[in-house]
Amino acid sequence: MTNAPRIRQFDFDGDYARIIGLWQTIETGMHIGPSDAPGEIRKKLERDPDLFLVAEKNEEIIGSIIGGFDGRRGMIYHLAVRSDFRRQGVGQALLAEVEKRLKEKGCIKCLLMIFEDNETAKKFYEESGWKAAPEDLVFMKMFI
Ligand SMILES: CC(C)(COP(=O)(O)OP(=O)(O)OC[C@H]1O[C@@H](n2cnc3c(N)ncnc32)[C@H](O)[C@@H]1OP(=O)(O)O)[C@@H](O)C(=O)NCCC(=O)NCCS
Repeated sequence: MTNAPRIRQFDFDGDYARIIGLWQTIETGMHIGPSDAPGEIRKKLERDPDLFLVAEKNEEIIGSIIGGFDGRRGMIYHLAVRSDFRRQGVGQALLAEVEKRLKEKGCIKCLLMIFEDNETAKKFYEESGWKAAPEDLVFMKMFI
């Protein structure tokens, strides 16, 4: 019997309240914004539902990751692991699964953003084969 968490696709009806509950416990490195409102999450799930994953243990959601693919670039958002399950490989398992699924869709380059002062995430992503791109500056615009 394995001790590894089960990684599965997010299910809106069963998981939305629970995932918001998990995200609210994440002390740093995570911002719950307008894109996390129910209607926005439903909209995201119309596009690539197989890239929004949760890690589950004993029927509790202990981690999440949201991937996206627009046909050219991949994006990763909201990787988070419940604090009492960290340093057990859950984050890497979620990331590996979403990377695998992105590659299967034909994605050849993937981006993600972290807060500048998130040293844990920097170490985590470097350990997972990612590198910072300090030459790139992120621009953004809100349409709402
Ligand atoms: C970043 C985060 C998702 C990592 O999840 P995790 O399940 O603890 O990560 P893993 O156990 O898979 O760690 C893999 C490797 O990353 C590195 N790492 C992870 N956390 C680390 C830490 N706090 N300090 C140093 N290295 C760390 C280690 O090399 C680790 O391997 P090791 O435990 O064998 O040394 C988790 O800390 C988290 O949820 N943070 C808050 C939210 C956040 O910042 N998300 C990322 C930005 S969206």
